[in-house]
Amino acid sequence: MQHPGPALTCGATRTILVRMKPPAIAIDGPAASGKSTVARRVAEELGYTFINTGAMYRAIAWHLARRGVAATDREKICAQLGHMPLQFGKEGTVSTVLCEGKRLSAELTEPEVNESVSSVAAIPEVRAFLLQKQREYNEREAVVMEGRDIGTVVFPDTPFKYFVTASEEVRAARRAAQGLTDSISERDKNDRERACSPLTQAADARVIDTSDMTIEQVVTEIVTDIRNKMPTKS
Ligand code: DC
Repeated sequence: MQHPGPALTCGATRTILVRMKPPAIAIDGPAASGKSTVARRVAEELGYTFINTGAMYRAIAWHLARRGVAATDREKICAQLGHMPLQFGKEGTVSTVLCEGKRLSAELTEPEVNESVSSVAAIPEVRAFLLQKQREYNEREAVVMEGRDIGTVVFPDTPFKYFVTASEEVRAARRAAQGLTDSISERDKNDRERACSPLTQAADARVIDTSDMTIEQVVTEIVTDIRNKMPTKS
């Protein structure tokens, strides 16, 4: 969706189009809090593009594992960053990750990736590399972006920040229902304790505990808040 912004009339004859930055909706939270499903639905409701940044970190972790590079080998990882055959794009209104032209999907939740991804995501150079790509998505279009640092680092100036969480028991049950057995508490601990862009809620984020809520209730709460905050067209 393009956001050309309002037209300003300047003098008698010249009209200048002021290009406003398209909106960015930041949805952060721990693993299995429901944020991916919620973010996807919010994007559908608003007609914005849905960006899953966890998939971007997972794609790098998957690629490194395939090449036999240890997730903690910062030097080797940095040397690979500029030469990875990964493309971060989109199909319709959903972000995609391609490797040599093939869309990655099941590869991104392989046990090896679940285990290594938080170590890869703790490397500052990896984060800087992806930060640039994440911001590029919002240059021309409105996005709903979900991750861990979207409200704190990627779009710190957006007024639309949501921190979606749930109790550890509920999150573990949701993970199991997806057929996944990875240790979310260990991954969350790593994500919260890393030095660079840790998982934390932005001071101005709206916190939503989804433990006793349906997906639709969460989506309605977020979409209503966004619509209330949107400047009205004159
Ligand atoms: O959302 P997810 O579970 O697919 O994320 C996978 C890992 O990537 C997780 O350990 C946290 C990390 N991540 C991150 O550090 N920053 C983001 N913006 C998104 C994910």
